[in-house]
Amino acid sequence: MFNRRSMLAGTTASLLLSTRLGAQVLPPQGFATPAGTAPFPPDVFRERRRRVMEALKDGVAVIYGADAVESAAAVAPPFVQDGDFAWLTGIMDEPGAILVMAPAERTVREWLLLPSRDTEAERWDVERLPLGTELERRTGFARVTRAGSLGGLVTTLAERSKTLHFLGPIVGTSAPVPKALDLYGKVMQRVPGVSLKDDSGLLASLRIVKEARELKLMRKAAAATARGHIAAMRQVRPGMTERQLKAILEDAFRAGGGEGLAYDSIVATGRNAASLHYTGGSGVIGANDLVLIDAAASVGGYACDVTRTFPASGKFTPEQRANHELVLSAQAAAVAKLRAGVYYEDLVEAAKDVFRKAGRVDDFTHGLGHLVGLDVHDVGDMSKPLPAGAVITVEPGLYVQSANYGIRIEDLYLITPTGSQRLSEAIPRTATEIEAAMAR
Ligand code: GLY
Ligand code: MN
Ligand code: MN
Repeated sequence: MFNRRSMLAGTTASLLLSTRLGAQVLPPQGFATPAGTAPFPPDVFRERRRRVMEALKDGVAVIYGADAVESAAAVAPPFVQDGDFAWLTGIMDEPGAILVMAPAERTVREWLLLPSRDTEAERWDVERLPLGTELERRTGFARVTRAGSLGGLVTTLAERSKTLHFLGPIVGTSAPVPKALDLYGKVMQRVPGVSLKDDSGLLASLRIVKEARELKLMRKAAAATARGHIAAMRQVRPGMTERQLKAILEDAFRAGGGEGLAYDSIVATGRNAASLHYTGGSGVIGANDLVLIDAAASVGGYACDVTRTFPASGKFTPEQRANHELVLSAQAAAVAKLRAGVYYEDLVEAAKDVFRKAGRVDDFTHGLGHLVGLDVHDVGDMSKPLPAGAVITVEPGLYVQSANYGIRIEDLYLITPTGSQRLSEAIPRTATEIEAAMAR
């Protein structure tokens, strides 16, 4: 199955084949999970944890990985690891894992806790490693224990250090209380003098600046995404269904080196394209329709995010071309301001100004962009000046149900000290470029 993060869900199989994952050749590992760390070797994650502990200085921090997905559906959703946990550990195939860090401890400062084994369940799902040196070697943790010891471990550490760090996320009042806060509350009821420190922005402030190795994967994801968008432009024909075009698009993602989908592909024609999150599929592409594709591949779990809008006929009408050019000018106005230190709000205003002057600001109904990384809507504080090394989309659009079209142009940019680099530059973007690509 080729779906969101299917590479990560399929890590064990790929490791057995000793496949090339990113730039790294991984040895065969045997059958049981965890298969190892992905998409980088354990020392990359150890170094990230070291940086986090250096920032925390003392106290205890508990970070929970994602739980198993319970589903009775014949096609169950894949397990997707929590972004913070993935960034800190690279453990992608063990639901229910927990990380504990205690920077001021004298010898052992980090623990990986995994759920207990269930040998009956393992005969159905997947075999899991016993505690021991093989588990420690694959994960890069000197101490791997079972999740049942969490309460005792954190209580003992809190007795010594007296500080509990909350690394987020902050959630709304209708969401369940985060597990770490729930645990901390229990510890504080049992250990006098322990205080709670809010460090909920720390991981986002580190994750927002992409490492060179992360950018390398994002560039690969952009290359695979380009293959898909170009194939769709060239092979679209009036009379095809959206679903048929989506198959062409996603096949080309895979042929271009894509390992998963960064998100569910949107392939929408005519009026369907005027509904922002339409993911239908049975719409028949009309000869005069504009087709909107918001879709991207992922590589090593890193997302890309691109939208293109093109005429099914291969030729924009004058009106379609004028609207497309207006959206492109709004994108250009925002990108002209993009550089390290810029405020996201100023990018939004630059794009809105273009639509305002054209009397079309009410047709721009969605956000201008977002950060991208391990998550397609990645973490990072967009109310602060954006740093060099962040990756962001700029994606203005015009959505007009009464005129049966939606037009959006979305590209992915790496922010640099002096400007930006367009990671999605291989994909035809202007009306002239698109018509030339479709004429081939
Ligand atoms: N594809 C999701 C987005 O553009 O935000
Ligand atoms: Mn986007
Ligand atoms: Mn998108």
